[in-house]
Amino acid sequence: MRVKVHEDKVLEMKRILLIIGGGIAAYKCLELIRRLRERGITVRAVMTAAAQQFVTPLSVGTLTNEPVLTDLFDLNAEREIGHIRLSREADLIVVAPATADLLARMAGGHANDLATAILLATAKPVLAAPAMNPRMWSHPATRRNVELLAGDGIGFIGPNTGEMAESGEAGSGRMAEPHEILEAIERFYATESSLGPAGLPGLLPRQLNGPLRGRHVLITAGPTHEPIDPVRYIANRSSGTQGYAIAVAARNLGAEVTLVSGPVNLPDPLGVSVIRVETAQEMQTAVTASLPADIAIFAAAVADWRVDGASNQKIKKNKGKKAIPALKLVENPDILKTVAKMKPGRRPPLVIGFAAETESVIAYAKKKLKAKGCDWLVANDVSPATGIMGGARNTVHIIQGETVDSWPEMDKCEVAGRLLEQAAAHLNAISACT
Ligand code: C5P
Repeated sequence: MRVKVHEDKVLEMKRILLIIGGGIAAYKCLELIRRLRERGITVRAVMTAAAQQFVTPLSVGTLTNEPVLTDLFDLNAEREIGHIRLSREADLIVVAPATADLLARMAGGHANDLATAILLATAKPVLAAPAMNPRMWSHPATRRNVELLAGDGIGFIGPNTGEMAESGEAGSGRMAEPHEILEAIERFYATESSLGPAGLPGLLPRQLNGPLRGRHVLITAGPTHEPIDPVRYIANRSSGTQGYAIAVAARNLGAEVTLVSGPVNLPDPLGVSVIRVETAQEMQTAVTASLPADIAIFAAAVADWRVDGASNQKIKKNKGKKAIPALKLVENPDILKTVAKMKPGRRPPLVIGFAAETESVIAYAKKKLKAKGCDWLVANDVSPATGIMGGARNTVHIIQGETVDSWPEMDKCEVAGRLLEQAAAHLNAISACT
């Protein structure tokens, strides 16, 4: 099969060993191989037995233009090219999709098939792109395995937050898109040329020379819970999905990320410092304690009001209408406004707010941008019919002064990726001017 070679041939001569695990995301490897080969990279593929249930060795071999290896005990293949030689000949090993099972076997040092035997025998840098059901990704066993592997020097790209292949499932566990894996690989090779190969193993993707390397990005996400008494609280429907996706995107571009999160059902993204809070006041304290930052993004749905004098004891339900308690509300601190109006030096150079509106989205958002004093405002329509609040997709308008850039509907992780790329470009442009 002939594949068009990319014009700049910097990656030509590079050799990647791609280990394909058994998950539905295996089909994305076909696109990844095509893109790698377009850049002149030689790709050798190894497929686990489970991977072959999702894509065929024939499709993979047609795209790599190399024999696909599947079996540790294939005498012919072993005579032709042994599993040790396979890893020796590669500059980088990419595991995609890295399923929960494959990660567990890697973490346990298993070598009971060709894929794991190579991974145990190699001294080459390994980049894994996890993909699994969100519950599997957040399971303590997977968290342990990932921490172990990160400690052993395995790099990770993703997983992303978004819709899963299983209908109705959303959360963290979707494999990074082929273009994102490709970018991580390109960053890897760019770093390799400046650090030398010895400097590479053990690096998480955020350390792979992205445009936000050396920058601190501070993000708020999720709702806040404002107590009425020790068991009751005022809350909203925010799931935290968009803010968490932003944290992952910032990390993938190389930033040091602090995520101040209200109560959500999402696991801590790998390589991100997460501060968990409950109330708006706690969020405010955590945000100011986390400054200075180069970029601050306020994606949290902070409760506008809290209960004045929340009860220390559970409020009893007394009989009789007159006994129904009245809640007196007081305004919460506006965290975005507080940070956006800070003096230069303390104020992050780029402050981005979000506006969730149910009507006249752009008009209200423009007013909000001025009132809050932030640089950009990401406006979205959260009327119930859109399914945005708690859903996996988003339609946003980016307001900068009088300019409105309306993006088509896309996955929340795509919104995050685009937003962070623009933010990185803006920050680097203003830094170049000062
Ligand atoms: O005023 P409104 O809640 O619509 O503003 C939304 C923006 O302001 C979001 O970026 C949100 O995170 C931020 N905000 C805040 N503190 C508040 C209220 C909103 O940081 N108390």
